[in-house]
Amino acid sequence: MSQYNFDEIVDRQGTNALNTDGFRQYIFHAGPEKQFPYKDDEFVRMWVADMEFAVAPEIREALQARLDRRIYGYTGTYDGAYDRAFMQWCKDHYDWTFDEEELCYSPGVIPALYLVAEILCGEGDKILINTPAYGYFLHTAEYVHKDVLMSPLKKDAEGRFSLDLEDFEAKCADPACRLVIWCNPHNPTGRVWTEEELKAAAAIVEKYDKWIISDEIHCDLLRMDQHHTPMAKVMKDYQKLITCMAPTKTFNLAGLSFSNVIIRDSWLRKEYKARDKVGGLINAFSLTAATAAYQKGEPWRQELRAYLDENFAFTKRFLDEQLPEAVMQPAEATYLAWVDMSKCLPDVEDLPGFFAYEAGVLLEGGNSLFVGNAEGYVRLNLAMPRSIIRTGLERMRDAIRAHKED
Ligand SMILES: Cc1ncc(COP(=O)(O)O)c(C=O)c1O
Repeated sequence: MSQYNFDEIVDRQGTNALNTDGFRQYIFHAGPEKQFPYKDDEFVRMWVADMEFAVAPEIREALQARLDRRIYGYTGTYDGAYDRAFMQWCKDHYDWTFDEEELCYSPGVIPALYLVAEILCGEGDKILINTPAYGYFLHTAEYVHKDVLMSPLKKDAEGRFSLDLEDFEAKCADPACRLVIWCNPHNPTGRVWTEEELKAAAAIVEKYDKWIISDEIHCDLLRMDQHHTPMAKVMKDYQKLITCMAPTKTFNLAGLSFSNVIIRDSWLRKEYKARDKVGGLINAFSLTAATAAYQKGEPWRQELRAYLDENFAFTKRFLDEQLPEAVMQPAEATYLAWVDMSKCLPDVEDLPGFFAYEAGVLLEGGNSLFVGNAEGYVRLNLAMPRSIIRTGLERMRDAIRAHKED
């Protein structure tokens, strides 16, 4: 019996959500002058990686109780409850333990990437990423004025992505390569790296003695038959590893800006903490929500995972039946489908623009949003009631058919 209702449509208009109000700037680099044949509230929004689901009632109740305390002064993790909850989560789910002193905080994984890259990267250093990539991996390099080394993932005939270890090693071997930003599991392809893949990549990073940030923000939302292995379990004692995890993707708390940064190296940790007025401030409500999430959110997360599995199955069926030229390998992790549209719309360069204008669907795709190796692909956010997904897919199908008939 399900306890939570993921079919409920929750109204987000008027909450200053990036999802509803920020798409012009983020996707189209435009302001209010950019107009579409659809009103803003008519779009099906399958873009930015947050969810259309209400947060777990357990989290809402904890926030309500904190709200009722009526004073929201400077806040820290003094009683240790948060650390215990998060460390227990890692032990229970990933059989991973670490020293509490390694646990640092950040108002987000992106700020942590920026801060760590700033501390680590000097003159002439480069940052290595796999492509396609989450856009902010590139923006991290831009923020610290460093070049990126891109190692494209390989794709087989069925459209399944894997590491190109030879290329990855060649790029890692570049003496200018200072830092690897590693995505585990991988956004946008949805790959859960196998232990063999993790070991092979880890061996290369260790061989060339590089720093590595393993961004594991998506690790709690895997398909039911998948299992996450933290890079920290593969790189057991490697000091130059930093792990980022967060309750924000898992529990739909992105606007509460809070994440975990596990830093093994004592020098880096000291440097990071010295900047805690930039990166380490703790918001009273974020801490309450994050603690409740790790302590009480598990039943909600398990139901969510089952619902997401069904959303992927539904989308796959829809595409196979109605848009067979669209190639989608069901994502092993994340709620993001990575769909190859190159055979459906070979002549369309700007896929987000096409679907916004012609279908009233907001989505991300292509190299401008995913750095490289992403041409012809769109990313569909499936973390929403199935009825909305159906509408979005039907509109996409109709727009593609109309375009072909033109
Ligand atoms: C791989 C990855 N890292 C980081 C983030 C954002 O992290 P945060 O909101 O904690 O800054 C996202 C959001 O989509 C992501 O996909």
